[in-house]
Amino acid sequence: MMDLREGMRLLNMNLQSRIQLRTGNSMPIIGLGTWQLTKDTAEIIEEALALGYPMIDTSGDYGTQPGIGQGIKQSTVERDSFYLISKVEEDDDAYAATRKNLEELQQNYVDLMLIHRPPRNGAGIQLWKGLIRAQQDGLTKDIGVSNYSIELIEDLIGATGVVPVANQIEWSPFGHSKEMLRYAEKNDIVIQAYSPLTRTERLDDSNIQEIAERHEKTPAQIFIRWNLQLGTVPLPKANQKEHLHEDIDVFDFELSDEEMTALDALNEHYSCLGRELSYV
Ligand SMILES: NC(=O)c1ccc[n+]([C@@H]2O[C@H](COP(=O)([O-])OP(=O)(O)OC[C@H]3O[C@@H](n4cnc5c(N)ncnc54)[C@H](OP(=O)(O)O)[C@@H]3O)[C@@H](O)[C@H]2O)c1
Repeated sequence: MMDLREGMRLLNMNLQSRIQLRTGNSMPIIGLGTWQLTKDTAEIIEEALALGYPMIDTSGDYGTQPGIGQGIKQSTVERDSFYLISKVEEDDDAYAATRKNLEELQQNYVDLMLIHRPPRNGAGIQLWKGLIRAQQDGLTKDIGVSNYSIELIEDLIGATGVVPVANQIEWSPFGHSKEMLRYAEKNDIVIQAYSPLTRTERLDDSNIQEIAERHEKTPAQIFIRWNLQLGTVPLPKANQKEHLHEDIDVFDFELSDEEMTALDALNEHYSCLGRELSYV
């Protein structure tokens, strides 16, 4: 299989670039996160779609779904021109929760429904079976997981034979896993990077600042670009319009191999959520 890092470069990435999924569908390479995007949600979504954001990530428990639905309604962008992700919770009936999410979003389908996090015990086989049914019924085009370790993903596959198309996990230069990246590449699973900007906690790191200055870019753009060149899919959240613009202005420069290696080497399994990375 083609090395993802090399592969993404060869594709000459832009905002419209897509990653081929194992099911034959495809996914954009960047999306907008919406956790705590509770201020002017509909207006921000409408603006993001107008700017060309190709993907929106939400969840039943973010409280943003009604606003996102409203923003989509207000937008002139066609529904099949952007990708929509939602999540079911670990104690949900996954099928019923998928329906409820669709109702809140005022949509007939999403592109990807994820199990938000594994339940306390086991891998969540029942949840997975509920999502498989939701996919069969056309409520979601693809299904995946979030906060799953390799072992738990293997349990889901072992029990059902169905491989998630994506694992959405906390992922930044300061907190990532080579082992997970290799596993994902080998099994054709996309890594979606949440909290890709470390919720701003590490934007002032001097290593990041130096690389940013060299490219006349901001630290946030370096975090995002690192993901894109790694073949992982960043989901930066932005409530401020300036941030919204900045976070997709990342296609006019390239990090060198040396810079990518230096950024990889910042890894300390850091989590800005104040706990250990959920998948390591
Ligand atoms: N699956 C999961 O368990 C899980 C967990 C956490 C997050 N997520 C998803 O991942 C998304 C992103 O993660 P996150 O919201 O935790 O954190 P994040 O995207 O790492 O950081 C968001 C913060 O960065 C700021 N920001 C955005 N662009 C910036 C820029 N260019 N320069 C400086 N600051 C900038 C935002 O400010 P403003 O908002 O003020 O513009 C906000 O304070 C979430 O919104 C959610 O969709 C999923």
